[in-house]
Amino acid sequence: METANTERKKVIFSAIQPSGTITLGNYLGALKNWISLQDEYSCIFALADLHTITVRQEPAKFRRNVLEAYALLLACGIDPEKSPFFIQSHVCTHSELAWVLNCYTQFGELQRMTQFKDKAAKHADNVNAGLFTYPSLMAADILLYQADLVPVGADQKQHLELTRNIAERFNGIYGRTFTVPDAYIPLQGARIMSLQEPTRKMSKSDENANAYVAVLDKPEDIMRKCRRAITDSEACVRCGEGKDGINNLMGIYSCVTGLSNGQIEKEFENKGYGDFKTAVGEAVVEHLRPIQERYADLIKNRDYLEQCYTESAQKALSISVRTLNKVMKKVGFIPRAF
Ligand code: TYM
Repeated sequence: METANTERKKVIFSAIQPSGTITLGNYLGALKNWISLQDEYSCIFALADLHTITVRQEPAKFRRNVLEAYALLLACGIDPEKSPFFIQSHVCTHSELAWVLNCYTQFGELQRMTQFKDKAAKHADNVNAGLFTYPSLMAADILLYQADLVPVGADQKQHLELTRNIAERFNGIYGRTFTVPDAYIPLQGARIMSLQEPTRKMSKSDENANAYVAVLDKPEDIMRKCRRAITDSEACVRCGEGKDGINNLMGIYSCVTGLSNGQIEKEFENKGYGDFKTAVGEAVVEHLRPIQERYADLIKNRDYLEQCYTESAQKALSISVRTLNKVMKKVGFIPRAF
């Protein structure tokens, strides 16, 4: 049977915002999966810089953040030869499809998005329309590539559900146009929590830098943050209800070592939290070390970065324009004669 070779590889699309620090949460919840899926699937990745301006950015810093995030994701292991990895604002189809999809997305649906509610509360002085319609741009990102799967952390699940609803609605009106994508959420690492308030997710926008580990943090900072992580008074390394801090550290340790919770409990059977936190810190440092080394080389090589994001944008444009044209035609726009 020849089917294995001739079958279309499933398509994966995902993106991350280049809004400053990339955290261990981003890495374990999403990026680590992106890297591991590159051989099995046809992957396309992006830096979602259009999404980032929903919060006011300082231009020079924004430009630097985008370039640094690009280099860091290559250092994590994205291979742009295999998986086009582009900057969203370089591929004009995203904004164009987002506008069309805005007209197929209901106000009430957008109003229910928890991320909108959180961000609107946090940036009460700038609740702009982009912040509100952000999920339809995200839907455009995904649907342009006819993605089957979208590897994300658990916090993006609601946006994925809305993307599915928009795709199904459009397909229902015009006939099959979009692949309806599924979220691909890892079993371990889908929700890495703050080290200081382990009932809240680890976030790069946390004002307390001890609450998150950045992928580019120095080893001594990673060790300090892990040692200071909030735990409980039980002093027994096992997961359980109400043990949010320990559950979180066990999740992190499991992701970077590959050990199961049972194996971790055994390893620390007669040891206290101090030993455990030190072991977590050391394992994270060792896991991130090769990434940090590759990053230090890549960020110096601007020409190479430019070549990678330019070639990737060209590939992404040629794929996504096919979907956009199909959509424009179905909606009834006059085809462009140029
Ligand atoms: P962003 O930039 O906030 O986060 C990027 C990815 O990291 C995951 N993540 C986490 N996973 C586990 N634990 C955490 N504490 C944690 N924090 C973040 C997120 O779930 C995400 O997968 N809207 C998206 C970017 C985006 C996108 C897309 C994603 C734009 N277009 C299309 C997928 C497909 C966002 O702001 O992610």
